[in-house]
Amino acid sequence: MSTKAIRGTFLDFIDDPWKHVGDEHAATRFLVDGLLVIEDGIIKDFGPYDALADRWAELEVTEIRDRIIVPGFIDGHIHFPQTRVLGAYGEQLLPWLQKWVFPEERKYADREYAQAGAVRFFDNLLASGTTTIQAFTSSAPVCTEELFEEASRRNMRVIAGITAIDKNAPDWFTISPEEFYTAATEQIERYHGKGRNLYAITPRFAFGATKELLETCRRLKQENPDLWVHTHISENPAEIRGVLAIHDDCTDYLGMYEKYDLVGPKFTGGHGVWLSNDEFRRISDKGAAVTFCPCSNLYLGSGLFRLGRATDPEHRVKLTFGTDMGGGNRFSMLNVLEDAYKVGMLNNTILDGSIVPSEQDLAESERNKLSPFRAFWSITQGGAEALYIDEYVGNFDIGKEADFVALDWTAGPPANAWHASLLVEEGGPQTVEQAGELLFSIMMVSDERAVDETWVAGERLYKKA
Ligand code: GUN
Ligand code: ZN
Repeated sequence: MSTKAIRGTFLDFIDDPWKHVGDEHAATRFLVDGLLVIEDGIIKDFGPYDALADRWAELEVTEIRDRIIVPGFIDGHIHFPQTRVLGAYGEQLLPWLQKWVFPEERKYADREYAQAGAVRFFDNLLASGTTTIQAFTSSAPVCTEELFEEASRRNMRVIAGITAIDKNAPDWFTISPEEFYTAATEQIERYHGKGRNLYAITPRFAFGATKELLETCRRLKQENPDLWVHTHISENPAEIRGVLAIHDDCTDYLGMYEKYDLVGPKFTGGHGVWLSNDEFRRISDKGAAVTFCPCSNLYLGSGLFRLGRATDPEHRVKLTFGTDMGGGNRFSMLNVLEDAYKVGMLNNTILDGSIVPSEQDLAESERNKLSPFRAFWSITQGGAEALYIDEYVGNFDIGKEADFVALDWTAGPPANAWHASLLVEEGGPQTVEQAGELLFSIMMVSDERAVDETWVAGERLYKKA
């Protein structure tokens, strides 16, 4: 048995900050001097150092100084085989897929290429502080296998599955419903619940799915009710028009996934930029989730996600945040928070009523504002709850897996250190208010350079050079 202890300044979340408007500290747990005790990768004890030190006096303590230690980041929507093609020029979603994405993903049918890509993919994640992902792969079985194999070597928690498309893609890229069923069934047996791997039934998107493919997804879910379901939804106007033309018996995008019994707990639809109020309400009622992917939604010109609408307490939608790398041009969830904040501000230019007074909605506008507490909750405990993995990860509760990140608030672009010195004195944050100011500075002025160390299941897997 291996037991160890980490001493430092910790911040995590015990509740949803959107439920505590005006008093978000009530959702936040901040320990200026805390102790995290880890036994075989699992959190065994957590609390103020003074209260715990005697109980664990015999343990060797690793001190992490001048850092804020937060739970590992959860990327709810990322594309493993797009690792090399991020930042592609000039297209919106549908032509971008054809021109850049399918040709690159095709290479992942080759095991050597997929394996080398997986090493780079996880190296990038760890350098960004991301310890948990829900990922798309490609339509080649090998691609999913190599993702799970590399995740297993690093003992990282991953939700993924073979990513099926049988329409609106070149022949060399599609997979038939039968091939998909066979590969998924074999992979579920081999990977689901093995180590930290979890399996998701993954139809790429409705625009790339025949009725037979979606019927196969329904069958897989019926045969394996504990699996996740991961897909895209209402990302781009041309895509949405195309979906309603193929699936002409449905009146909206969500209805198409509902028709095949896929929408419920453990369902996540990525993007949801153009979801109607009624679709938000149905997603909320069913306990399903949407992923907010602001880097990608801006990069591909998809639109502005209505964060303040999705967080309406009348029909609160479970949310994960995601990079959508390579539709998103960054690996870092800190960049996601930066762009998410800006999307909220842009939406509020409409909601503040200064353009059209009748469109003013100050309550929704308030919910659009991504405070540092809302932001870091969303990429840790909030994301875990939306994905139904909060029994494993998300905060420092005893019994969870010890995934965490040590953030250096002085690192980043040259402008950052002097800026941060405006917020705290030497010795770091002493109050939750100061910690919040530093976290906001990290998400808006810094980037993954703020990630100094990343720990996975109690092991340090990344230390900044
Ligand atoms: N919809 C279907 N495939 C994709 C993809 O690879 N990226 C994004 N952003 N949307 C998609
Ligand atoms: Zn995507």
